[in-house]
Amino acid sequence: MQTLAEKQNLRTVKSPLNYIGGKSKLLDQLLPLFPKEISTFVDLFAGGCNVGLNVKAERTICNDNLKFLVEMYQQFQQNNLIEILQHIENQINVFELSLTNEEGYKEFRQHYNTHKNPLDLFVLIAYSFNHQIRFNNSHEFNNPFGRERSSFNDTMKSNLVHFVRKIQNNITEFTCFDFHKFDLSFLTENDFVYCDPPYLITTGTYNDGKRGFTGWNETEEYRLLKILDNLHSQKIKFALSNVLAHKGKENEVLQNWIDKNDYLKVNYIQTNYANSNYQTLVRNKDASVEVLITNYEIEKPKTLFD
Ligand SMILES: C[S@@+](CC[C@H](N)C(=O)[O-])C[C@H]1O[C@@H](n2cnc3c(N)ncnc32)[C@H](O)[C@@H]1O
Repeated sequence: MQTLAEKQNLRTVKSPLNYIGGKSKLLDQLLPLFPKEISTFVDLFAGGCNVGLNVKAERTICNDNLKFLVEMYQQFQQNNLIEILQHIENQINVFELSLTNEEGYKEFRQHYNTHKNPLDLFVLIAYSFNHQIRFNNSHEFNNPFGRERSSFNDTMKSNLVHFVRKIQNNITEFTCFDFHKFDLSFLTENDFVYCDPPYLITTGTYNDGKRGFTGWNETEEYRLLKILDNLHSQKIKFALSNVLAHKGKENEVLQNWIDKNDYLKVNYIQTNYANSNYQTLVRNKDASVEVLITNYEIEKPKTLFD
């Protein structure tokens, strides 16, 4: 019989942030494509950590270059869960945050921008429009109020509790580097690097180089592909999430890289348009061709007859 701890381990941890481009809905498809035995797992563009926290590994490093986000995770990791929840409830009471109090939200946003307490960022996100993280060029949080829609609700609270419990084990580490400055040289053949960068042909709030996010362009894309080629030459496994086509646009940089390198495997990820073929998808103006590109053959699950 499974122990309670084992059962909890099997539960997928969902990010308490409604992260743009978050992979929580695709985990069922992505995780079976990952290597079965991983020593160190690097989630190089961790975002909401939906992937990093659900991969079984001896050591997990979640990296993102968004400093305020990483500082928030580090605070979640270093503080007692009860104290974190008390801090949140306290700020909600002091600033009278609610589904309708826009003035209170604005006052609290001003408070955060003056003091930049990482835990306050979470409270702010809870009440902000679509729970999104958005900073202006002066690195001030500037997402508007989520009137009648956003609050620190029970789902967010439950996701936060599971998230904090998960990262307070001693296998998760958070780092804040630009992907090309992250030192991958310590990795060996049992390690695995997952990359979920901003997509060249779609726009998330983080990839136009505005609002406090680093931009993503062809130079960044080429730089990443070169790093992946280097990992492959050192026999280190990697997987790259991306879209080959989106709303009639194709990612030619990525497609050329795939065409040039026999070692790459393209695994198609099912989306709403799963039943269409590739060409139909490209022609369909609303469709996305979502892929996971790996440098290894996918291990088939063992059957009773193996
Ligand atoms: C698609 S999101 C990752 C979502 C994540 N897989 C999840 O499921 O929540 C991409 C992330 O890359 C980060 N990012 C953008 N440019 C980066 C860079 N140059 N170096 C490291 N991280 C970067 C963004 O801050 C964003 O959090």
